[in-house]
Amino acid sequence: MIRILKTPLASLLVLVAAALPLTPSATGQTVAKPHDEAAATKAWPQQAVRGAHGMVATDEALGSQAGVEILKRGGNAIDAAVAVAFALAVIEPAAGNLGGGGFMLIRLADGKTTFFDYRETAPGKAKQDMYIGKDGKLDEEASVIGYKSVAVPGTVAGLELALKTYGTMKLADVMAPAIRLAEEGFRISGKLASEFEEESPGLESFPASRRTFLNNGQMWNAGDTLKQPELAATLKRIAKNGAAEFYRGETARMLADEMAKQGGMITLDDLAHYKPKVREVLRAKYESGGHAWEVLTAPPPSSGGVAVIEALNMLQNVPLKGWNDPQSVHMVAETMRRIFADRAAYLADPDFSDVPVAGLTAPCYAKERAATIDPAKASSSTNVRAGDPHACGSSSSNAAAPQTIVSLGEGPHTTHFSVVDAAGNAVASTYTLNDSYGSHVTCDAGFLLNDEMDDFTTQPGVPNTLYGLMQSGANAIAPGHRPLSSMTPTILLRDGKLSFVTGSPGGPTIISATLLSVINWMRLGMDAQAAINAPRFHHQWFPNRIRMEAEFPESMEQALRARGHDVERAWYGTPSLGHEAKLHKHMGLVNAIGIDPQTGDRLGAADPRDEGAAVGY
Ligand code: DON
Repeated sequence: MIRILKTPLASLLVLVAAALPLTPSATGQTVAKPHDEAAATKAWPQQAVRGAHGMVATDEALGSQAGVEILKRGGNAIDAAVAVAFALAVIEPAAGNLGGGGFMLIRLADGKTTFFDYRETAPGKAKQDMYIGKDGKLDEEASVIGYKSVAVPGTVAGLELALKTYGTMKLADVMAPAIRLAEEGFRISGKLASEFEEESPGLESFPASRRTFLNNGQMWNAGDTLKQPELAATLKRIAKNGAAEFYRGETARMLADEMAKQGGMITLDDLAHYKPKVREVLRAKYESGGHAWEVLTAPPPSSGGVAVIEALNMLQNVPLKGWNDPQSVHMVAETMRRIFADRAAYLADPDFSDVPVAGLTAPCYAKERAATIDPAKASSSTNVRAGDPHACGSSSSNAAAPQTIVSLGEGPHTTHFSVVDAAGNAVASTYTLNDSYGSHVTCDAGFLLNDEMDDFTTQPGVPNTLYGLMQSGANAIAPGHRPLSSMTPTILLRDGKLSFVTGSPGGPTIISATLLSVINWMRLGMDAQAAINAPRFHHQWFPNRIRMEAEFPESMEQALRARGHDVERAWYGTPSLGHEAKLHKHMGLVNAIGIDPQTGDRLGAADPRDEGAAVGY
């Protein structure tokens, strides 16, 4: 079931130089179902959903409704966001979670900003070489499937902290929609039924996953009702006893016992010591269209905020006309190429590594990076190295030596949602199990467990299993460390006022999808739905090519090729590894909310590439 790119560095470099332009060559395991097959048959909305008071945009109508239910009961955006996160853990099992981790960016109506980091951590027993066999080879499956792939979950602690810090309602109240959905069940959509089918090779290996998601092998059909009694019981215990239940109570004991029996690493001690972190929001200022803009975004251990700011800085003096203009696509793709080279070299858990954030996000550094772009011709990634980031006024950061990165083949398995309430409080939240259905293990307590260990550098010089990522030694596995992430919840202010709330799933393509949504809104002046519908493209240094969504016309491909770019359409599957190659027409699932500057209306723009739904009032 799992197909893996496993290439020693030396052959990897040969691959990079020679083979990569020819075929897609890395993989996910059971890679994302092309939900966009359904999207292709439905008309995409051209207008955002308008609401004068509150708005919630998520991947699932039921999730957005759960948020609005809380807003209408007098909750604020943080109450609603926590309600949405718990509800998605029930109705969007691929990504919504209790057993994973994520980030929540908050901007309150009074201007206060906070970033909650509830990324998973490596358990105490984790070792740098824990996925490397006696033969020196990486165990291809251990970091992505089963108990050994699971990092200490952060979601429940993070959600409780966010609620306690800025919410107004009790945990039990905001969890009520999730408990109801788990206990009474919900209607299985066509999308969910086909996802279960697609994921069945992994899910059937674990009895609780098989029972819950594969109907004990009978398989679910669209229209059936999915009830999750074990999950409902766990949610009720958390609602009653708080996050302490998950980390020190019955749920913790159940999880630790199961881990011990099944060869997992997580102990009671790991759970008891898990701590979400409050981090300073990353910020940058721009002028565009006669307005002063501020970008609020995710700090490390996300790589995304740094990358988005570096890109916006590099593009500041680049005229951008839109995505039917090959020159604009060329300049943005070349920018992406360089920010991904820097990501590979410098980004890691900031609690254990000296990440040169100030240098990477400095305008003068961006100017130097931008000067290496040839406006007429594509660079070759083999000649593009990570830069030497430095703050304005200093010449060098003495930062870590550049490393190589290769990353391919990611589909939407994470989930991003946005919430704005009537008072103007805003939440951008992205959380994940990593792969679709994480480790594929549903634990005895009824929730899926992440496989976030694979976001670490699992073996120096060898790409990690799920996404074929090469990352720096600073991202090596070590107890208590957080693996590097691409998740990039982001909020824009225009002339000091809330303007746009955005973010995406999609592994490295998270960075491109989020960046493009920001450019569409801030630089190109698109309306909210157009900013989400606009076609997306992605360049991540290696492979040395632009990946483009299906909507781009052939003429764009030709114009980019004329500039020397290798171009491919978005795809999933890896023919070289025995996968059936299929076009995955789209990248990212951006569920955003814009604010109408004239009326103050909330403009909910969910991503039509899947079944995103904005609900407002
Ligand atoms: O944190 C990260 O960057 C990854 N675990 C996100 C994975 C993801 O977006 C899955 N979708 N492709």
